[in-house]
Amino acid sequence: MSERRRILTGDRPTGRMHVGHYVGSLRNRVRLQDEYECFFIIADLHMLTTRNSKEEIAQVADNARGMVLDYLGVGIDPEKSTIFLQSAVHETSELALYFGDLVTVPRLARLPSIKEMARAALMDEETMPFGLLGYPVLQAADILLPRAHLVPVGKDNQSHVEITREIARRFNNLYGEVFPIPDDLVEGDTLPGTDGQAKMSKSLGNVIFLNDDAKTVRKRVFSMYTDPNRIRADIPGTVEGNPVFTYLDQFDADKAAVAELKERYRGGRVGDVEVKERLTTVLNAFLDPVRERSAHYAAQSGLVDEIIYRGTLRMREIGAETLREVRKAMGLAGVFNRISRKAEERMKKVGR
Ligand code: TRP
Repeated sequence: MSERRRILTGDRPTGRMHVGHYVGSLRNRVRLQDEYECFFIIADLHMLTTRNSKEEIAQVADNARGMVLDYLGVGIDPEKSTIFLQSAVHETSELALYFGDLVTVPRLARLPSIKEMARAALMDEETMPFGLLGYPVLQAADILLPRAHLVPVGKDNQSHVEITREIARRFNNLYGEVFPIPDDLVEGDTLPGTDGQAKMSKSLGNVIFLNDDAKTVRKRVFSMYTDPNRIRADIPGTVEGNPVFTYLDQFDADKAAVAELKERYRGGRVGDVEVKERLTTVLNAFLDPVRERSAHYAAQSGLVDEIIYRGTLRMREIGAETLREVRKAMGLAGVFNRISRKAEERMKKVGR
């Protein structure tokens, strides 16, 4: 049916998504889903590498539903794209196991992204689990299971796509051409937190969620960090690195009005209140249709679950086909085939 090249990307189901995710990745995905056949993974197995308590696992279903509502809200279309739950596609785990033999331990252990995840989860070299070391190997399995050509990722995950390419090449060299060599596509811009920190991050509490209501958005905008030296409206202010203006640059379509506002800010001719009032209006205008679309999906009982379910069944089918080819190429399929043929011969003869 479809000749489109494939994309695979996704997120760990750790909670709702915020406007930083939108600017950093979701906006890009919405744009790409017409040109590519997109697969969006709810990467719960990756979550387990740092959060695997029973309590955390018990939240996966609801987190996945919330995350998918946010996907749908921003315009990811389940008619065009496949959204699936990683842990329900067992072929992913099997492929990751084979891939683990195609990469060395020091290659993985050297990755700054792994060290950073370990550090953030309060793990050191002694307590780092095997699974966290294998995080990029599992990711390679995600990407290569549907034989994706393009992988939109943040900078921190670029090295994982590099490893994926190395694994794909190694596999093809050893066993024959099964996998395409995927490209990475570094995703959008990084939005600073409302507190002025470099990144929006749930754990820092400096976020505006896609499902925040209009009043909450207003409250969060009015608590935003601006120019700390500007204690009065008639003091010239700094626009560069001022998150209020970074947000306006991202979300306000009226560039001339933003330029004029910056000009007055620099000249000490506008108060923070007016700037924040404008940002509140702009953000709510952006979020209104997002909230509306999410609400539309949420209102139909079981619809989000159906979308994840059907996506997962589809991924299972694709995954089973890839695994058949993988086991055949490796010669693993033949091992048990030979044994079963001989066994069946004998069982027939002895009447079993
Ligand atoms: N590692 C990604 C994250 O930081 C999630 C993820 C899992 C992913 N598998 C992937 C991204 C495959 C791109 C491709 O949350």
